[in-house]
Amino acid sequence: MMARSLYSIGWQIVTDPDLSDLVRRAYTNGVVMDTWMHGGWQAEITSAAEIRLTELAAGFASEVGTEETIWPVYPLSDQYLSHLFQAVLRSMALFEVHTQSDVKLVTERTVEQAGVTLQQFAAGETWGLHAVVRVFHVIWSFEDLNALRYFRRLGRDEFLSGVSHRPWVKDLLADQLSLYLRMGLVKESLTGKGDMLRLTPRGRSVFEEMERILEESGELAWRANQQRWDIFRDMDYDTVFRVVGPDSDQATRTFLDLRPLKPGMQVLELGAGTGRVTVDMELYKEVLPGGVVVAVEPSPTMEAHLQDKCTKEDITNVQIVRAYAEHLPFEDSQFDQTVAVAVLHFTEVDEAVQEMVRVTKPGGWVGALLPPPDVDVREIPMVALWLRPLSELAEEWGLPFGDRNGLPPGRLEEAFRQTSLQDVKIWPVPVTITAEDHHAFFTFFVKGAAVFQHTLARLPYRERVNFLQHLEQRGEQIAAQTRPDEKRHVYYGEAIWGRVPLN
Ligand SMILES: C[S@@+](CC[C@H](N)C(=O)[O-])C[C@H]1O[C@@H](n2cnc3c(N)ncnc32)[C@H](O)[C@@H]1O
Repeated sequence: MMARSLYSIGWQIVTDPDLSDLVRRAYTNGVVMDTWMHGGWQAEITSAAEIRLTELAAGFASEVGTEETIWPVYPLSDQYLSHLFQAVLRSMALFEVHTQSDVKLVTERTVEQAGVTLQQFAAGETWGLHAVVRVFHVIWSFEDLNALRYFRRLGRDEFLSGVSHRPWVKDLLADQLSLYLRMGLVKESLTGKGDMLRLTPRGRSVFEEMERILEESGELAWRANQQRWDIFRDMDYDTVFRVVGPDSDQATRTFLDLRPLKPGMQVLELGAGTGRVTVDMELYKEVLPGGVVVAVEPSPTMEAHLQDKCTKEDITNVQIVRAYAEHLPFEDSQFDQTVAVAVLHFTEVDEAVQEMVRVTKPGGWVGALLPPPDVDVREIPMVALWLRPLSELAEEWGLPFGDRNGLPPGRLEEAFRQTSLQDVKIWPVPVTITAEDHHAFFTFFVKGAAVFQHTLARLPYRERVNFLQHLEQRGEQIAAQTRPDEKRHVYYGEAIWGRVPLN
């Protein structure tokens, strides 16, 4: 009887029509619970920060009320809510230091800020702090049930140690497991190998419902993106990019030469990254004397590389601005020319192109170069063989093989044509992609550009690490047996230009 009512409360929560919006509101307002997805869970935390975190969490827990408020018919241990808020605050603080600073250290200030963000979020929700508890249960229980679904069964001790699926916070697992058992989502049986846990049919339907909610809220896509950012932050972008795409600089030159710059121009480059175009390809020199390149870049790490290059080379006519293409902090009609190279597929393309048009002067050119839309790296014969395990995983889960970052063929042109731009013209630009350096290929495509993160992000933590290791070793063997001409393929990128009307 008790198990049934617990289950119906849980089921009521997961089927609440507002739940996917609630999840979206949480992660878009900085209430980030996916510690593991941004690789930040191993960052350091000062003792003072740890103390503050415990205090804040205890405060939030007592505001929510007693544990019975959460699961009225099933009291959890006294510490459950405090641990829950500690886990959430820790995740938010780690996310903050991981994405916004080069110093991977959580201080008291970061924790304090996380507390303020959490409070602000709760204040805007009808459910107040309960909303945080709800989101927490969806996200973390999804992770637990996902592990049981994936591994089919897990030893009780292994599950409770979190080693396979969530090594970052274990304090809550015992209470969570007792909930899953009471709700009939998980079944325990004694086998020759000790106590084993497996998902029940009921557990599977709750898992599927949670998956649907996370999908609908955009949270799964967000997770995948976090992994992408993570690798981009850590990899040697300049080298890797040029190794996997040996003619990228040449393709960029072809694009730029279609609408040459002139001395004295005010030029805007969006998503300037490490400065491959603005500095390495000497865009800044083309506007000298008198001209300026304003380089917009949202990622602090990329921006730091760019800043470094400008300082080392004593470049004074490049201004770096941290911003997103979709919301440019500039007046209308400020630039003579605006470009975006290998960027618009990461943006909300319509908004970004509209912003490009807005900030460009009448008569000025707006241009973009995009990597080949709809690249399927399996057209490189070696890669087709190498990445077969990924292909199979995607197929088993009914997911597309690669997430091509959202811009299908024709989409860029459509975004340009629906603005006021005139003389819009698009050119195919050949771009070779090569796996001749298979390490670089792996870093860029599998880890970095994260074409496969939507699949990888659904693997339990430990399995993802193992899977990637296995795939990397597989690449080693296959590369040794493959002819050079089976390691590359020529794709076609898109170069597009349009002119802002004169009036
Ligand atoms: C593939 S890199 C290209 C960098 C550089 N343009 C080049 O060609 O080497 C993509 C860049 O776009 C940036 N980016 C991603 N989303 C963005 C957005 N919404 N607005 C502006 N830049 C963005 C990333 O931080 C990254 O530096």
